[in-house]
Amino acid sequence: MAEQNVILVDKLTVRYGDFMAVNSITFYVQKGEVFGFLGPNGSGKTTLIKTLCGLVKPSSGKGSILGLDIAKDAEIVRENVGYMSQKFNLYEDLTVEENINFYAGVYGLKGKYLRRRKDELIALVGVENYLNRQSGKLSGGWKQRLALICALIHEPAVVFLDEPTAGIDPVARRELWDLLFRFSGQGITFFVTTHYMDEAERCGRVGYIYYSKLIAYGTPEEIKALPIVSPENTMRMEVLVPVSSQVSSALTFIKSLSYVQDATIFGQSIHVLINKASKQEKLVSDLVKQNFGKAGVREINPSLEDAFVALTSQIDKEIHKRQTLLNLSDRGVTSLLRGLEAETDLSKSISPDKSVSPDKSVSPDKNKKGSKTQPL
Ligand SMILES: Nc1ncnc2c1ncn2[C@@H]1O[C@H](COP(=O)(O)OP(=O)(O)O)[C@@H](O)[C@H]1O
Ligand SMILES: [Mg+2]
Repeated sequence: MAEQNVILVDKLTVRYGDFMAVNSITFYVQKGEVFGFLGPNGSGKTTLIKTLCGLVKPSSGKGSILGLDIAKDAEIVRENVGYMSQKFNLYEDLTVEENINFYAGVYGLKGKYLRRRKDELIALVGVENYLNRQSGKLSGGWKQRLALICALIHEPAVVFLDEPTAGIDPVARRELWDLLFRFSGQGITFFVTTHYMDEAERCGRVGYIYYSKLIAYGTPEEIKALPIVSPENTMRMEVLVPVSSQVSSALTFIKSLSYVQDATIFGQSIHVLINKASKQEKLVSDLVKQNFGKAGVREINPSLEDAFVALTSQIDKEIHKRQTLLNLSDRGVTSLLRGLEAETDLSKSISPDKSVSPDKSVSPDKNKKGSKTQPL
């Protein structure tokens, strides 16, 4: 079966005045994929989602959802997508069922179709026992489950979830993701932003946006294998120093060693990128000599977090170098970045598939019931 691109984005750029919030981004998402989108606060994630939902006009470039142009067909796009915004608020004084009814009403769902859709979602999401509970009294995890029902009630083919697990506990996070995979198994496509690396590791493919630019894109394994993340003739070690209060001073020492290329603290351990020719025993003995005690050292594969740290620190170094060179203010950095990708090796790490083709996109389900107006 031919792959079906549900979301297609080509050199999409969004400006707020002279500020570029989304800078020439290109990627695609296939039908039934759970696509993870990461990046620090302020990097452009929400702006991109709002643009793909037809709520913000692109300044240049193109985007299509289910074959519909996000600029020209914005209204029809909104009818076919579900959107759970970052600060999504339910009506806290309404019960769970009243909230579902309210959203169904806004989407114009009625009669048998509404009953079937409601029953289906209530059973799948598992909120049967909470229907009469006041929404404001639900825990964070159950509120998000209810929010998911409200985003799915009109049977959208594509759903955008903006930080759906922010602030909820780890078990509830895992359960919400299990639900997303269950729905994606039915062919629904999800675009999900998150700050959690364990969630990103579960995605088929992920994108990382930094200073408005997509700096990494692919499967977690592809991103970890990028030359910038795993340079030739290096290996990555996990170092556990015996005294946890010494982690920070051990990091400074490790970074000063000639055979160390990079080092970062991860909780109680330090991930160190060292030259392959050097021996891990040397690192252990150097730490002993420096009175850090006998550290536990083992070789590890890069995690997705290691990968993003490597990618962003490469950019940060470049920015710092040029900022110093040009004596730029922080504001000047943004305009500096516009030209950066083309000039640095980083451009090689950005790997959207060149074969993105609108011909492969799928069409919205014309037979689906629902009103023309959407509460986006
Ligand atoms: N309506 C707006 N007008 C002007 N600037 C905005 C607007 N919305 C967002 N921004 C700016 O665009 C940048 C990206 O914001 P946003 O897309 O919300 O990032 P993220 O979701 O990654 O935190 C930020 O610097 C933010 O201040
Ligand atoms: Mg945001």
